[in-house]
Amino acid sequence: MSDEHDGPRPPSQGYGAASMEKIVSLCKRRGFIFQSSEIYGGLNGAWDYGPLGVELKRNLKNYWWRVMVHERDDVVGMDGAILTHPEALRASGHVEGFSDPMVDCRSCKAHLRLDQLIEKKGVKQCPNCGGKDLTEVRQFNLMFETHVGAAADETSIAYLRPETAQSIFVQFKNILEVSRKKLPFGIAQIGKAFRNEINPRNFTFRSREFEQMELEYFCRAEQGMELLEYWKEERLKFYENIGISRDKLHVMTVPDNERAFYSKGTYDIEYSFPFGRQELEGVAYRTDYDLSQHQKASGKSLEYFDEETKQRFVPHVVEPSAGVDRTVLALICEAYSEDEAPDEKGKMEPRVVLRFHPRVAPIKCAVFPLLKNKEPLVAKAKEIVDLLRPHMFVFYDESGAIGRRYRRQDEIGTPFGVTVDFETLGEKDAALRDTVTLRDRDSMKQERVKISDLLELLSVRIA
Ligand code: GAP
Repeated sequence: MSDEHDGPRPPSQGYGAASMEKIVSLCKRRGFIFQSSEIYGGLNGAWDYGPLGVELKRNLKNYWWRVMVHERDDVVGMDGAILTHPEALRASGHVEGFSDPMVDCRSCKAHLRLDQLIEKKGVKQCPNCGGKDLTEVRQFNLMFETHVGAAADETSIAYLRPETAQSIFVQFKNILEVSRKKLPFGIAQIGKAFRNEINPRNFTFRSREFEQMELEYFCRAEQGMELLEYWKEERLKFYENIGISRDKLHVMTVPDNERAFYSKGTYDIEYSFPFGRQELEGVAYRTDYDLSQHQKASGKSLEYFDEETKQRFVPHVVEPSAGVDRTVLALICEAYSEDEAPDEKGKMEPRVVLRFHPRVAPIKCAVFPLLKNKEPLVAKAKEIVDLLRPHMFVFYDESGAIGRRYRRQDEIGTPFGVTVDFETLGEKDAALRDTVTLRDRDSMKQERVKISDLLELLSVRIA
């Protein structure tokens, strides 16, 4: 049930192991992502997003919400609890079946997922130490169990949800009643999910605590396969619209023997990460399995009544389920690039640049007075900050040479830089009064624009 298609796939072109190291190091150095509880040695599989990481993540989630909920008539949102009733997860199959096959290496004591073992001359070996003394395969349930209330016994067990989907199914009837939607319609949710992964790895890619963006799109049985295709295409468009190039995205049709038994069709949307092609999102036609299971277990009707045909039936569902953290990581990998830019004297020097799509970039525009000790330049730059701030996240920087300031913003992916110079004050040419230079991060080209046009110009480019 967890995303199984996790075996090694060929690394994408143009990256190497060093690139992932550079990405991890940039993420820490510039405040995108830190190891959780780092000062205590770190908590494996948990990550904290810093000042820039949280902006990137929010921009991603907000854009997903915009296109999946706000821009549609047929989708409503919800925000469910993380603590989940054990009966709900028993009905969904998670209590019995949400597990990975696991073995231990008796030599180095490593706990391993079965698919991580390496095989040499037909003999399975530990990938860490090469040891061949392995335990029998056993199932390891990935759910985090906790207790609700003061009595820590069998009766008080609850689980941290392993996916956001189940609260959508459990609330299906309530939401149907209040929203008065007709099929096909969807319920969307963004939120935390928890899985006690045996081996968290590849930075944030496989974590124990992560966020999902899930849509459960309910429909009639006969619409299922067509909607599966529709949502696969919609989701591919989404990734392109946040700046992930189509040639780094791959659609994997999950073979019959690897699909969940209740699914009639599943696609994995994969991205070429530096460590190989890996799943970003699953788009699955889950039939009426989930609602039927909850109906059976709860004894409450989860049927839909069709006013026109007077039919009553349990709807089917198509589910596009994306990982927030994986998409953030893909955005960073996609954006990372190294090129050259001129220094103060025009000499070319290496530059690291995150070429984020302006839509997701943490900071949209940096504002610089050319010199920090010239009061009129500073005052004008601050006026521009006040003008833009209600509409976008801007950053004011007056320290250091202007080239250095550009470079710092390039490295964190700020797409636009506005510089207030002596022309802005009309000192050289009255016609240039109240104009600024607008610098584009990628082309490094500068255009002269009127301050009064700036907001409109930038708003269009970051929308
Ligand atoms: N409701 C369906 C479901 O949860 P899944 O393939 O297990 O399906 C959906 O998970 C998405 O959640 C994955 O495609 C991935 O992006 C993200 N995800 C799953 N496990 C994850 C983990 N351990 N760390 C980070 N993201 C994860």
